[in-house]
Amino acid sequence: MATVPAYSITTDAVAKEAERAGGDWHAIDVSNVLALDELELREMGPGDVRLKILAVSCEHNIDHAATADTINIAEARGGRMFPGNSATGEVLEVGANVTKFKPGDIVITHCNGDPDRFGFPLKIWAYDQPDSTGWYSKEAVVGDWQLIKAPLDCGLNLWEIAALPLRAPTAYHMWRRALGIYRVKVPRENQAVLNVMGFGGGVSELFLMNAIAEGHNAYFCSGSPERRKALEKLGITGIDQKAFNRFASKDDVKAFSKECKQLTDGEGMHIVCDMLRGPVFPAGFAVAARQGVNVSSGWQLSQVIDYNTTIASVKQVTLDHTHYETLVGCDAATELYGSVYKPTIHHEIYKWEDLPRAHHEMHENTQTGIPIAQVADELPEAVRDLIP
Ligand SMILES: NC(=O)c1ccc[n+]([C@@H]2O[C@H](COP(=O)([O-])OP(=O)(O)OC[C@H]3O[C@@H](n4cnc5c(N)ncnc54)[C@H](OP(=O)(O)O)[C@@H]3O)[C@@H](O)[C@H]2O)c1
Repeated sequence: MATVPAYSITTDAVAKEAERAGGDWHAIDVSNVLALDELELREMGPGDVRLKILAVSCEHNIDHAATADTINIAEARGGRMFPGNSATGEVLEVGANVTKFKPGDIVITHCNGDPDRFGFPLKIWAYDQPDSTGWYSKEAVVGDWQLIKAPLDCGLNLWEIAALPLRAPTAYHMWRRALGIYRVKVPRENQAVLNVMGFGGGVSELFLMNAIAEGHNAYFCSGSPERRKALEKLGITGIDQKAFNRFASKDDVKAFSKECKQLTDGEGMHIVCDMLRGPVFPAGFAVAARQGVNVSSGWQLSQVIDYNTTIASVKQVTLDHTHYETLVGCDAATELYGSVYKPTIHHEIYKWEDLPRAHHEMHENTQTGIPIAQVADELPEAVRDLIP
């Protein structure tokens, strides 16, 4: 069996860094936890594909794993896990039964680890799916069902394509769910144009791109001037979250609510995407329009929310929770690369050896867009024209 360089997270590294940081989540340096290791590739089966990983995006689940802020996932995975569940790669070899791919194809991954009978994930690949190994590695062996052909002619460059495998299906699923729920209450016949808001983050940005592509008004409430500016170029109105002190007090939420009412002619937000929770949730809940939908598949700032059910009932507000797309939904989301999804990329493309620093900077929230790392030293001819 071949062994390849890969990053891992161990229970020991998590505990050591937590101790160094004195229990202060903010002081954790993720680059002390994500460490270069060796991964033994499994034997190729008839339905498997061997990949050379070209580029990966940094994902927040690595931060959750390194800080053990939801569960101690490295411990749950037996003390060591190989993370990384968003990758763009080149097919090197295919098993005897694989007909969809051939060597030389450029592919992207999805991270639906274990679809239930409706196709929704019970587990996420390279996170809680048992025995799953991630793609922060030089090579990987995966089942062919985990791959989608990369849409190389969609108009995006290689780094933009590499930003989307995890975030685009997440946003796509949340958008179709939230819109579907709203439309159960208010059919298109009664109201064509909706006010849609998302709070800072790559998934929210893509969610808002779905909204503007369908003719709705979109608002991006973020603390990052660079990210707001990038979305304003697409016709998405920016709201400076820091002008409302990131909703530290009730007065900040009140002022934000007033601002949103002004922006929407007194109507409020029909759909809100909130991947953060914590202090962001009361702000998103306060600005909900009548019949509004508040959708989330993240809990970056808190796992628990608290709200007034009377207000939710009287305003007929629906809270929805999603996880990740079905396999066919991941294919559909990929169809929108370039036409709908035009991701903002952090100004530095990290090198393979800088992946831990990239995650430290993600933890510090200093990046200006979705962080990407180039994994392969040599990129194949098929993508050379896609490098900006
Ligand atoms: N269920 C799933 O399949 C799934 C998929 C993807 C992500 N997620 C989860 O969703 C969350 C967001 O993911 P993402 O990929 O969109 O994140 P991301 O691109 O890494 O962005 C995170 C955003 O968090 C915001 N932020 C950081 N600290 C904040 C604070 N103290 N208060 C308010 N905002 C703060 C920042 O926005 P500004 O500074 O611009 O305001 C930043 O842009 C993560 O928890 C992730 O694990 C879940």
